[in-house]
Amino acid sequence: MRPAQQEDTDMSSDLSSPATQTFEIRPSAHPRSLAQRRQALTDLAFGTVFTDHMARATWTAERGWSDRRVEAYGPLSLDPAAAVLHYAQEIFEGLKAYRHEDGSVWAFRPELNAARFAASARRLALPELPEADFLASIDALAHTDVEWVPSSPGSTLYLRPFMFASEAFLGVRPSRQVEYLLIASPSGPYFTSGFSPVSIWVAEGFHRAGPGGTGAAKCGGNYAASLLPQQQAADNGCAQVCFLDAATETYIEELGGMNMFVITRDGAVHTPELSGTILEGVTRRSILQLVADDGREVHERPITLAEVKEGVADGTITEVFACGTAAVVTPIGTLKGTDFDLTVGDGSAGPVTEDLYTHLTDLQFGRRADDYGWMRRLV
Ligand SMILES: Cc1ncc(COP(=O)(O)O)c(C=O)c1O
Repeated sequence: MRPAQQEDTDMSSDLSSPATQTFEIRPSAHPRSLAQRRQALTDLAFGTVFTDHMARATWTAERGWSDRRVEAYGPLSLDPAAAVLHYAQEIFEGLKAYRHEDGSVWAFRPELNAARFAASARRLALPELPEADFLASIDALAHTDVEWVPSSPGSTLYLRPFMFASEAFLGVRPSRQVEYLLIASPSGPYFTSGFSPVSIWVAEGFHRAGPGGTGAAKCGGNYAASLLPQQQAADNGCAQVCFLDAATETYIEELGGMNMFVITRDGAVHTPELSGTILEGVTRRSILQLVADDGREVHERPITLAEVKEGVADGTITEVFACGTAAVVTPIGTLKGTDFDLTVGDGSAGPVTEDLYTHLTDLQFGRRADDYGWMRRLV
């Protein structure tokens, strides 16, 4: 792993935001009109509409990070030999900007995304982007495209930082040239028709990650590996796939894009431990703190599929839910596999699941006091 070399080029502009001290704002020559933006912000789905700008920085082995800028959103020019296209040396993050009632814009614990981005970079032999740059890129893009942060109920500006190997070289070694980008996508509420439980397909024979692999990193390859089992889940009428551990096919790990929790009748909260093969979710970590502070017993431990099946069948397990930035908290109503089909409780969302969803979304949208100091103001 090569250390990230900081290059301190002063790119200050005349704007007063601290972010512009490092990310130079180069405004788009073709921003969309007010009418076009209003139209684009109507009936928002997820990840289909993008703002007028993107933040960007370039790293080379010789110069370290440089050329931090915000520029017009648009296609990239990439050499066909760029390493990412061949060896998938790529990482990404996902977080949201929330508009509060008073018009201000906030992010939820973005420093944890910065830390996870750095950890993913280490695992993929990419240069670490310093936390200050990660946060400054978010500040700079949020300021530049603030009009794109939606204000309709439950809508957010989804932020997607990513980094990839751009060196044109077909040898298998860490790239000596890397691009960092941040794009933003106004997105509608995940639940369009309320807070509805989903069904989960427990994958057999397919794994997302193995011991010593890249499961704890947020790299594109993990998601490529999850697509076929995800398709299988859909073929079996399920919304998401749950992966078991690759070594023994005994323990539940996580969903394709969310962590999992189980609540038992005694009120205790259980979630798979961080074994190196699952992603440490920001939502997972926040929930663990909330339930512990609520006085609940918390167990981060290996959880077998057998005990989940048994517990759901005999009622010892009262709630199962998944969590992640996109949906925050998703109740799991049904668990299916090749030889089982189980309904959790009566199939509807349980009270702990609902409380956590309400607590987190109220916090994120500024409807309750930020007792933990988790919100960071962007604009
Ligand atoms: C594989 C995987 N697990 C868990 C999560 C949940 O993480 P977070 O709560 O940080 O969004 C995600 C989403 O980023 C994910 O892709």
